[in-house]
Amino acid sequence: MAVARAAVRRMARITAGVTTSHVPAIGAALDAGKSRDAYWNPVFSGYDFSKRWIEAARPDVVILIYNDHATAFSLDVIPTFAIGCAENFNPADEGWGPRPVPVVRGHPQFASHIAQAVIQQDFDLTIVNRMDVDHGLTVPLSLLFGQPAAWPCRVVPLAVNVVQYPPPSGQRCYALGKAIRRAVESFDADLKVQIWGTGGMSHQLQGPRAGLINRDFDLAFMDRLVEDPELQARMPHIDYIREAGSEGIELVMWLVMRGALDAKVKEIHRFYHVPASNTAVGHLILENPRTAAPDRSQS
Ligand code: DHB
Ligand code: FE
Repeated sequence: MAVARAAVRRMARITAGVTTSHVPAIGAALDAGKSRDAYWNPVFSGYDFSKRWIEAARPDVVILIYNDHATAFSLDVIPTFAIGCAENFNPADEGWGPRPVPVVRGHPQFASHIAQAVIQQDFDLTIVNRMDVDHGLTVPLSLLFGQPAAWPCRVVPLAVNVVQYPPPSGQRCYALGKAIRRAVESFDADLKVQIWGTGGMSHQLQGPRAGLINRDFDLAFMDRLVEDPELQARMPHIDYIREAGSEGIELVMWLVMRGALDAKVKEIHRFYHVPASNTAVGHLILENPRTAAPDRSQS
């Protein structure tokens, strides 16, 4: 009886997680038609598999964990966690005009449900009903979807403050992922949802350590994120900054993604490349074994 009811109940579910760096120069290279140049080809090649994978996986919605870089939120007001509930999000003008990419279509009904369910699990999300989205959100879309006339799915932006001290802890981000998962699974519609964590890997943009790359840390971080996320979640923020540079703290956003997946995940794809601009690029695709497989056969 319980089984029969479960079988007919409509439910959104998280099928997979993606992590990727969101280096703005990657977006600029793509927009300028340079993605197959000698410098950029090795970067974009790491996403060739991912483009084919996502075309088959066909998510309805991506919950996209990213950070705003003092674009939509000035340094006057900085929410620790903010969820975009708007119908549309325009690509932001970050100083050189907006990127020539499609408007990002939100999912107000789903986003409002996530906001309600996550806030009722004691996470204080800021509700954002109007904002532009910067490279932190649009570069990952470009890397996975290329240059379509319209983005092929809806996007719920979820911004994490990693720009102004103090950032949320890795543990808090991991717990947020778990709360997001419960929220998704209580949404009464058959939605295929992916969750993406962006930013990182090691990079420091300013000061005497500018250009810092710590390959050993980056690769070990990916291993721990996949295999032992509970351990990775316990790393204090100061260790990210010491090991991965001041902007390496963006990696805590990967833990939001990981918290929303199963304890055991299937690693589908991994990519690591240095450099892009003066940072390391890292990318993972992880599937929830139980929910990802049926989706494939249906699509
Ligand atoms: C750069 C900026 C970013 O936000 C980032 O995540 C990586 C690199 C940059 O300016 O090079
Ligand atoms: Fe960034």
